[in-house]
Amino acid sequence: MTSGQYNLARNLLFKLDAEDAHHLSLELLRRTESAGILKYVAGKLPKPQPVECMGLTFPNPVGLAAGLDKEGTTIDALGRLGFGSVEIGTITPKPQPGNPLPRLFRIIEEEAIINRMGFNNVGIDQGVANVRAAKTFRGIVGFNIGKNKITPNANAVDDYLAALRGCWGVADYVTVNISSPNTPGLRDLQAADDTARLLEALKLEQVILTERTGIHMPIALKVAPDMGEEQISELSKVFLEGGLDGLIATNTTISREQVLGKPYAQQAGGLSGKPVTEKSTEVIKAFYSHLGEQIPIIGVGGIMTADDAVEKLDAGAKLIQLYTGFIYHGPPLIHSILNKLAAR
Ligand code: FNR
Repeated sequence: MTSGQYNLARNLLFKLDAEDAHHLSLELLRRTESAGILKYVAGKLPKPQPVECMGLTFPNPVGLAAGLDKEGTTIDALGRLGFGSVEIGTITPKPQPGNPLPRLFRIIEEEAIINRMGFNNVGIDQGVANVRAAKTFRGIVGFNIGKNKITPNANAVDDYLAALRGCWGVADYVTVNISSPNTPGLRDLQAADDTARLLEALKLEQVILTERTGIHMPIALKVAPDMGEEQISELSKVFLEGGLDGLIATNTTISREQVLGKPYAQQAGGLSGKPVTEKSTEVIKAFYSHLGEQIPIIGVGGIMTADDAVEKLDAGAKLIQLYTGFIYHGPPLIHSILNKLAAR
């Protein structure tokens, strides 16, 4: 698929309500994949560019970030488009509807999205069943897990443990999401003491499950871009002491500094895309200065071009993930990033 072809499709999709366009696109991807047509539309799969990270071999460094395939129903098609990994979720132990509509907005002139989806998802058991039903995907599948909205923060650990157990042996890795701005109080779990307690419980469970099943699954944690140097330094200590396997930086921002006065800028939720590019790169650099090569970083946030991807890697990331850039630039962005990296 060329950029010109993708732009035509995008212009049509952007005439629809953002959430309708999302569901329609995923449905089209699934149907064309299962009918055997998508491979002709997508073109050649990219050449493998394997990267070792968290003890896993990623077929290439470009992954899909959490939130697009929340339920793991579309990984075959997404793999066909070139992603080396797909992070499904956020999935919670029990299904939940998420926030009332509308909850998804495009700021087209800024290549940005604001969302307050609120972890709408089918629950961990259905997510596992969906991933098990995938047929052709050969890449890495991450399960991004969260807590149900009705679970108070005091019991959050139980939800993360339940989700971890639920996907053990099906996921290749798990991402613990404590950085969504759309579940009230969730980001409070990024306070160093709370993160330390959560990480300790998860790492203990990881040992128990590894012994019981003979399968090891790395645990990553996903952080927000809205933090200062002191918090980054404190959290880095917690991550190093707690033996975190990987860090995903970053989630969406609650800041509106970059989009003041733009349409929908006042909508509540997390902002992603171009306005978050620099901020997330700065957070990656800051974490890398503490973590070095000890804990691998997966860089995400406003990667809209191949050059943005290179900047994330230069900042210290081992792998990258896309969401909003993929909405604005489509599958050609995956290929242009991989071509650029291959030429490096
Ligand atoms: C997200 N993101 C997200 N992250 C997460 O950990 N769990 C989730 O459920 C979601 N849901 C979600 C929905 C929508 C509509 C968007 C746009 C984003 C955040 C996403 O994975 C990523 O971290 C940020 O969007 C920053 O990257 P981009 O979008 O700028 O490439």
